[in-house]
Amino acid sequence: MRHFLTLTDLTHTEATQLLARATELKTLYRAGIRNECFRGKVLAMIFEKSSTRTRVSFEAAMAQGGGSALFLSPNDTQLGRGEPITDTARVLSRMVDAIILRTTTHDRLTTFASCSQVPVINGLTDRFHPCQLLADVQTFQEHCGSPQGKIVAWIGDGNNMCNTYIHAARLFDFQLRIACPTGYEPLPELLAEAANHITLVRDPREAARGAHLVTTDVWASMGHESEHAARKAAFKDHQVNAAVMSVATPEALFMHCLPAHRGEEVSAEVIDGPQSVVWEQAENRLHAQKALLEWLLR
Ligand code: CP
Ligand code: NVA
Repeated sequence: MRHFLTLTDLTHTEATQLLARATELKTLYRAGIRNECFRGKVLAMIFEKSSTRTRVSFEAAMAQGGGSALFLSPNDTQLGRGEPITDTARVLSRMVDAIILRTTTHDRLTTFASCSQVPVINGLTDRFHPCQLLADVQTFQEHCGSPQGKIVAWIGDGNNMCNTYIHAARLFDFQLRIACPTGYEPLPELLAEAANHITLVRDPREAARGAHLVTTDVWASMGHESEHAARKAAFKDHQVNAAVMSVATPEALFMHCLPAHRGEEVSAEVIDGPQSVVWEQAENRLHAQKALLEWLLR
């Protein structure tokens, strides 16, 4: 039994096979071919933070594969009335085949997983968002081939997405250039572990120069809403706009995990422009997670 709590839960071979399967599943889906790979399976989905893409992609994946998904929020389960997360894990895992948890701290996720008898999937924590990176790397590969040796520019907050890009840089062997303001760096232990794959700079154009992919995320993640004004000031020079994209390779892609704030971390002309693949990136959540579920439920 395996969990998927961070990208480091996959070997390079497993990740490569999983993403090849994701692209295969996408082709089948687009051809109208459905398989009942999840028949009789139930996925419990606990969301302690908001979600559009993660929730819908997992729910649709289970339904399209002949299984079912249960959406559970703290508002209408006993979690919201103080039942320990450990007890919830013990109970749910006796009833369902896998559980996805989107929660506040990464420790809460690992504690939950340690009490679960079935695979647990990280649906986002304060530290990591590995499901998103499966879709991002799938999207990159479909446009540009293998990410190995390529240059990826991360512009903005050193947040859960940035931390996960660091894991991805090691797993898929690409160079990650991170441009973030002072005080908003990713986890120092990750930077130390991935030193051969990471360059940390301050200037977005320096990060984007010659990049094959430019990516960013919101300036204030869920849980940091009260810091929005201070962050807006700190990040004002860290917008992905035409000037930043102009120094990347001419065929560079733009990605954003979404939801996006046009005029803040990305200009409208970039996210709605010809280099942006954000809608396909969002769609690939469905296909990559089907491949992940197949792998975990096999
Ligand atoms: N990118 C992403 O995880 O989106 P949601 O918050 O809508 O799930
Ligand atoms: N960094 C963002 C990602 C949302 C998908 C957040 O944690 O809110």
